[in-house]
Amino acid sequence: MADIQQHEHDVIVVGAGGAGLRAAIEARAQGARVGLICKSLLGKAHTVMAEGGAAAALGTVFSEDNWRVHFRDTMRGGKMHNNWRMAQIHAQESPDRVRELEAWGALFDRTPDGRINQRPFGGHTYSRLAHVGDRTGLEMIRVLQDKAVHSGVDVFMECTVVRLPVVDGRAAGALAYWKDSGRFVLFNAGAVVLATGGIGKGWQITSNSWEYTGDGHALACDAGADLIDMEFVQFHPTGMVWPPSVNGILVTEGVRGEGGILTNSTGRRFMFDYVPDMFKGDFADTEKEAQAWVTGDRKKNRRPPELLTRDVVARAITREVKEGRGSPHGGVFLDIATKRDAEYIKKKLPSMYHQFKELAGVDITREPMEVGPTTHYAMGGVKVDAETQEATVPGLYAAGEVAGGMHGANRLGGNSLSDLLVFGRRAGAAAATAARNRKPAPVSDAWVQQVVNEALAPFSRPNGENPYQVQADLQKAMQADAGIVRDKAGLEAALAAVEKLKRRAAGVGVIGSREYNPGWSTALDLRSLLTVSEAVTRAALARTESRGGHTRIDRPDSDPAQERVQYVVHKDGDRLAVRAERQPDLPADLAKLIKDGA
Ligand code: FUM
Repeated sequence: MADIQQHEHDVIVVGAGGAGLRAAIEARAQGARVGLICKSLLGKAHTVMAEGGAAAALGTVFSEDNWRVHFRDTMRGGKMHNNWRMAQIHAQESPDRVRELEAWGALFDRTPDGRINQRPFGGHTYSRLAHVGDRTGLEMIRVLQDKAVHSGVDVFMECTVVRLPVVDGRAAGALAYWKDSGRFVLFNAGAVVLATGGIGKGWQITSNSWEYTGDGHALACDAGADLIDMEFVQFHPTGMVWPPSVNGILVTEGVRGEGGILTNSTGRRFMFDYVPDMFKGDFADTEKEAQAWVTGDRKKNRRPPELLTRDVVARAITREVKEGRGSPHGGVFLDIATKRDAEYIKKKLPSMYHQFKELAGVDITREPMEVGPTTHYAMGGVKVDAETQEATVPGLYAAGEVAGGMHGANRLGGNSLSDLLVFGRRAGAAAATAARNRKPAPVSDAWVQQVVNEALAPFSRPNGENPYQVQADLQKAMQADAGIVRDKAGLEAALAAVEKLKRRAAGVGVIGSREYNPGWSTALDLRSLLTVSEAVTRAALARTESRGGHTRIDRPDSDPAQERVQYVVHKDGDRLAVRAERQPDLPADLAKLIKDGA
């Protein structure tokens, strides 16, 4: 292995978004030698796309709020499919994690009496999102990054992990390549934390940037770990739809949290027509009541229907467009201009103001935005232990979006930022404990050589197919048949397309050198993209009902028998297989809390 650089750490963290940074900080605080690997530059993370805030029952705006209400909202939003223990830990620990972040230097918007301000968001009973205008994720990354670097975490940038070695049944590190040189590097470690984020690049329209190709999901699966809930993909209701070059870029839910309304081409505020029975009493019936809640005493009135959960709003928009009531570019209208004055909009939504002005030539203080659903978040991910975040492979941990279970069938907006703080910290602590007094296991030269040979194979096929074409065809197939609404025939077509694309991916070729070769990177990313796409379609076929983010038009109802059933995707030889597993039921006290209210 003369050509292969090597590093040794107690804990290696793959991914430097919020979860990875928080895990690295905690592992370091426990005395571990920590390496943090990021696919792009430090600070460039999908965490910044959680713009509207971090959900935590701080009770600064509504003193009635507490972890029980937050837990109940999360479970109901997740259509009762969540890992209840993760949802409980999350609701209980989020306030401390947000306060801790403040102590580390995060600047939050303030209430008139100087406490952390909290804004309303979909599915949350009370205003619960601690925020900094519409740049909360960015602020969080700034603070965590600063803390991690000053804690002595070793940071490795522009480094992509291609496989995780497993030695004697335990995760033993990560094999990666440098983007600049194309050379390989082996990180030996006593424990590995995956915090690689999501899978959005598998679809054509997405809020995710180029890094989010499901690497952690695929690495874990390859290493023998179980994936759960892969059928639940979140389509954020509001992405930009025009001009085409910015299609999918996120329009924060904060716009609706601050009073923005959704209308169709007839001018109707259509969300009034889509309030599910389960939530009827909680939402306003009339414009007057909804507006009174935005500008008046929120305690007496019911919330506007634009603040229903994301799955409901995304489906409603899709239906309006399908039935011919869409906007000129295939979305609907989101209007804040007639609800708030220009100064307020610029203060609370500065990024949205600039984003629309600069990218679409739209002044959101005067005109409505055109918006439509965009692939945003994977509820599914690596199956982990709720307390430690350990995967089904010992020594392997997962936190943040790459971990499954916490959000059930649909995530509430704002819960991801608090999730990554709570479970990033837990994963980092558990990984450091596991690695203590454990010398990293040696990884065999033969294994490394085999992975390197596979990774370099596209260079031996200069006339092979262009990897970008395979990626584009995959995105097209997933968008068409594994999107917001699905059915058996479409999912079977998507799966057949994935199988065909796997064969094509095996024949892709690249030319040029290994240095900064984006074609080669794309060829390597295809492995992850195809794994997660197969996992999504197989799990979506197995779930013969509609629930949360998984809408089957051929199975429009929820099936109570599948509420606590998880479809587990795992490797079976060279293929992926699915098995059904029943999750433990909620303890009686928590079940009662959900039924009777907190
Ligand atoms: O709309 C948003 O600001 C996104 C937040 C989230 O995904 O949690």
